[in-house]
Amino acid sequence: MCGIVGYVGFQDAQTAIVSGLKRMEYRGYDSAGIALVNERGIEVRKKAGKIANLVQELEDHPIAPSHQGIGHTRWATHGGPTDENAHPHLGATGRVGLVHNGIIENFASLAAGLAADGVVLRSQTDSEIVAHLLEREVLVGHSLVEAMRRTVVQLRGAFTLVAVDAQSPGEVVAARRSSPLVVGVGQSEMFLASDVASFIAYTREAIELGQDQIVRITPDTVEVTMFDGTSAVTRPYHIDWDLSAAQKDGYDWFMRKEIFEQPKAVADTLLGRIGADRQLVLDEMRIDTAHLRTIDAIIVVAAGTAYHAGLIAKYAIEHWTRIPVEVELASEFRYRDPIVTSTTLVVTISQSGETADTLMAVRHAREQHAKVVSICNTNGATIPRESDAVIYTHAGPEIAVASTKGFTTQLIACYLLGLYLAQIRGTKFGDEVQRLVEELGSLSGKMDEVLDDLDGVLGLAEQLRDAEDFLFLGRHVGYPVALEGALKLKEISYTHAEGFAAGELKHGPIALVEKGLPIFIVVPPKGRDQLHDKVVSNIQEVRARGGRTIVLAERGDADAAAFADVFWPLPIVPTLFQPVLAILPLQVFACQIATLNGHDVDQPRNLAKSVTVE
Ligand code: G6P
Repeated sequence: MCGIVGYVGFQDAQTAIVSGLKRMEYRGYDSAGIALVNERGIEVRKKAGKIANLVQELEDHPIAPSHQGIGHTRWATHGGPTDENAHPHLGATGRVGLVHNGIIENFASLAAGLAADGVVLRSQTDSEIVAHLLEREVLVGHSLVEAMRRTVVQLRGAFTLVAVDAQSPGEVVAARRSSPLVVGVGQSEMFLASDVASFIAYTREAIELGQDQIVRITPDTVEVTMFDGTSAVTRPYHIDWDLSAAQKDGYDWFMRKEIFEQPKAVADTLLGRIGADRQLVLDEMRIDTAHLRTIDAIIVVAAGTAYHAGLIAKYAIEHWTRIPVEVELASEFRYRDPIVTSTTLVVTISQSGETADTLMAVRHAREQHAKVVSICNTNGATIPRESDAVIYTHAGPEIAVASTKGFTTQLIACYLLGLYLAQIRGTKFGDEVQRLVEELGSLSGKMDEVLDDLDGVLGLAEQLRDAEDFLFLGRHVGYPVALEGALKLKEISYTHAEGFAAGELKHGPIALVEKGLPIFIVVPPKGRDQLHDKVVSNIQEVRARGGRTIVLAERGDADAAAFADVFWPLPIVPTLFQPVLAILPLQVFACQIATLNGHDVDQPRNLAKSVTVE
């Protein structure tokens, strides 16, 4: 998730673009850049780090005045956060400048085509490739709009592209597929941006662009067409949000916004992972497949929410690969003198990639000659830099302290790793891997279904806002979901909440159950007969003692519903994937309880987003 801006109009373009970027810094902040068209052609300034670095660069090396340009604040996906990889990117002759948000899935084959034609790339990004393709079309005489049309049909994946041509004064052209873009309609000026926060200081009139549309703006006109050249229907609207609401897309909290971004984040994390032969590809997995075949133990190391993702990963990876998997809290790992050898694969999970406990675990594992794969959401962070391989999640920046989209995308990355190992070690047939990957692909739509039907969750939060204790129970992969559901509630509502393995209830926790105690129970899908029935028995046990049962089970599960005071149905998915859906109502419930009780949901007391001390 990056922030992108285009501007054309009467104002000084640099001022308008930099101010727009600053208002979108929450979308990405590992590098920023700007390209302006003036009498010298296109001038670019770009810098790794926060926008302040770009501003300094513009002071040190000023650009001649301009009324037309593009800007970008980056959250790296392809290529680390360096000056070279920062946007904008130029074509080979420097005539076309381009910024990009999204992921170009067929980037490798396009890059090979360019290399064969002698094009030398200056960065490691997928975006630069598009700049070259677009410039080629312009150089053979096409208008920027026509060139954009001819370029987008060559691309697979998700993208918003915004471009300028040094020889087309007074216009900026953009294209959008599965990635956001809005037009800000001003008086003798027009804006393009990933979201309205970027231009809200200048205009509150906007046009939302639809899927597969191309837009050309001049100071006085907006022309929108479809990728195939036919005319497009657009929806103008008036923005009545203030800046803070605009940055949160109208949500009250970043956490709530991030909860609702999860279907997209999960879909983005899956982008580009399936090769032409339907095989799973993990390009970033830079550990020799021969070595991966010799692995005889996996240790997953993580902290907080990421640790809960790791607990779920164990069930999936062991089941698919038959390799024993341990899951360890990062803060405990090296102090217990773990058995780590050169045939151990250590998998670390960290949203930020900077958690000190997890970083120390990486260093310890590598000292023992183990290979380390990190699952991380922050390109270029310390943990991925120090690991042998990395699988990036593509959740975009997570601003709220309580992790939500970080968690579900970590689960996707863990599933991908497990299936990849199963594929290369032959513990699953190719068609089985493909079927599971297809199931993963359908999760995003099912997450939408859950998030579209939250009245019951919000109503229950209202009823339970004063409750002082909560229990969360689950079994198999539902157990870590219970732990994570309890953690979410603790973190932001400061309410006592405990997660337990449902089977352990009888060994102690059942003593806590008293009349009216709210108990969330995650029930596995019915396919797992024994497991399912045992959890249904657990529901009866707590209900018989007066507990108020809030049951999350697959749609149509009459056995579970029979003992539920409140029943939250989930779409039908394989057992191992159920956590991706089951956690959603629990996140929303925690967010709502905290909101109703007047807490700062995004910055809960005593907690930090990234804990860089041990
Ligand atoms: C902190 C945050 C948690 C997060 C944990 C691990 O404690 O408050 O929300 O789960 O760190 O963070 P990481 O960035 O390593 O995933």
